[in-house]
Amino acid sequence: MTRKEISQAVISRLPRYFRYLGELKDQGITRISSQELSDIMKVTASQIRQDFNNFGGFGQQGYGYNVEYLYDEIGKILGLGKEHTLIIIGAGHLGQALSGYNNFFNRGFIFKGAFDLNPDLHGKKIRDIEIRPVEEIEKFVRDNKIEIAVLAIPKDQAVPMADKLVACGIKAIWNFAHVDLELPDYVQVENVHLSDSLMKLSYSIERYEKAHNLK
Ligand code: NAI
Repeated sequence: MTRKEISQAVISRLPRYFRYLGELKDQGITRISSQELSDIMKVTASQIRQDFNNFGGFGQQGYGYNVEYLYDEIGKILGLGKEHTLIIIGAGHLGQALSGYNNFFNRGFIFKGAFDLNPDLHGKKIRDIEIRPVEEIEKFVRDNKIEIAVLAIPKDQAVPMADKLVACGIKAIWNFAHVDLELPDYVQVENVHLSDSLMKLSYSIERYEKAHNLK
């Protein structure tokens, strides 16, 4: 299927569809209407239809959506149909918490290596993966054809580290350091700021309390 350019707004909703469909699939549900999906996901049925129309629809009139097919197709669009090799740079609190989270690895992300500046950490293991010195990064990335690097290091270290990773051929960076990375456009970057999410929560509290005269 050839696909037109999909808006970022639609793409940002796909992981949520994927997650819900995965749960439906696990419950043995084989088909679902856009209205039923709308009720579960609290998104309008017309939004769901519009979103799926970007990819050719997926649905059949009077039948609804085939859950497994839809799940597989959205997974393919998200590039989850294949394995992605990944390393973590910075094996501190965040790096260790991320690498301990099983769910990432069930989605085809293969955790191959962890690197840290701190010599006290070298040789220790997270998930059977040995923490290595940063001097080994270049060779490791090349030898193991690593696609994704997770940056869980202080922000003043993140820019030079990202440049070094790009030079040895990394395809994508999952950046947790609070700094903008300016990288060539062939390197994909996804910035994650949990504090942004917390600020949105704070905004929602404010908005609700104002609307209900609770302030
Ligand atoms: P941490 O201090 O526990 O761990 C940082 C680790 O990075 C240490 O083990 C340190 O030795 C290592 N390190 C420092 N420079 C390095 C380099 N050049 N190469 C390899 N390793 C290096 O800190 P924590 O709490 O794990 O946070 C790590 C980073 O993630 C910080 O920049 C923090 O601000 C950020 N962070 C971001 C979040 C987000 O939502 N984006 C949430 C939590 C932390």
